[in-house]
Amino acid sequence: MPTRREFIASTALTATAAALIPLGACSQENTAPVAAADTAEKPFSGKLIERAIPSTGERVPVIGMGTSGSFEVGADTAERDPLREVLKRFVAAGATAIDTAPTYGTAEDVLGDLLAESGARGKLFLATKLSGVTGRDEGLAQFGESLRRLKTDKVELLQVHNLRDTETQLALARELKQQGKVKYVGLTHYVESAQQDLAEAMRKLKPDFVQINYSPVSRGAERRIFPLAKDLGIAVMVNRAFEDGRLFAQVKSKPVPDWAKEVGADSWAQLFLKFAISPPEVTVVVPATSKPKNQTDNLKAGVGGLLDGSQRSALIAALG
Ligand SMILES: NC(=O)c1ccc[n+]([C@@H]2O[C@H](COP(=O)([O-])OP(=O)(O)OC[C@H]3O[C@@H](n4cnc5c(N)ncnc54)[C@H](OP(=O)(O)O)[C@@H]3O)[C@@H](O)[C@H]2O)c1
Repeated sequence: MPTRREFIASTALTATAAALIPLGACSQENTAPVAAADTAEKPFSGKLIERAIPSTGERVPVIGMGTSGSFEVGADTAERDPLREVLKRFVAAGATAIDTAPTYGTAEDVLGDLLAESGARGKLFLATKLSGVTGRDEGLAQFGESLRRLKTDKVELLQVHNLRDTETQLALARELKQQGKVKYVGLTHYVESAQQDLAEAMRKLKPDFVQINYSPVSRGAERRIFPLAKDLGIAVMVNRAFEDGRLFAQVKSKPVPDWAKEVGADSWAQLFLKFAISPPEVTVVVPATSKPKNQTDNLKAGVGGLLDGSQRSALIAALG
């Protein structure tokens, strides 16, 4: 039984394919394959743009991936096979940053299993969180569980999730950094209404990373977070670049604009991601997908040009 998302996607695909077929092709006489070359998926190629993490200068490819929702599946082969391929394409493209959390259902378990199978752990920049815990002991116990579930002995980034028990949890993350179990520490949130509090915490606590929502329809980070991150030397990870998928509904009957070609893009997803990584303060964006073809699409945003001011305005207007 297809999920609602799969049903909408397959219906849209059928409608698009039907629109591409010349009228004559519908008759029984004309059975030639239609526009097969144009509709075939083109693989990722090229080298992903990289950005430096200000606190060390270490470079990270700008396209990463999230795991909320997308990796929250069971042990079923039918559920795991597409995710195995999502990870395989990600690693093959040279992308590294993966964001997860102990509170994303089964995501850490699934990611841990697939990473162990892939043998790619050493190439990746793994980010997880101290999430919904209070006090040092709870945080420490949760981190131990995260390492067990992720099948690793350290993570590259440990973030305090949604400003909960921030000072205690960040102090714990720093302690773990000193022990070599964590490379960078960070703070995260996902709504604009929390950005003022996040900015205050950035000033006071000076983490290595901040993770925040940013998209053509949620641009508060441009004013509240990016300038501060630049001044304080804090790396920025962007979440919800597709507004959890809602941006696609806003453009579903609109063709990708002609000017997309100027930056080497051929999908709305690539434009939304190029929007997210256009500010130089953004270090990496973590779009979430459960589908291999969408993973390839997302990775393509990390090569070619980024958006200039007028292209950014045109994209914002297209969503109006
Ligand atoms: N407080 C926090 O720290 C916080 C909060 C929110 C999110 N995050 C992190 O940020 C990540 C991303 O945010 P998000 O999961 O809220 O959502 P998102 O990345 O804005 O959107 C995900 C949605 O976009 C769809 N999608 C992905 N690529 C696509 C493509 N190329 N074409 C069409 N549809 C596409 C996905 O569906 P398909 O699966 O069908 O591709 C999914 O429905 C999370 O996974 C998590 O790691 C952190």
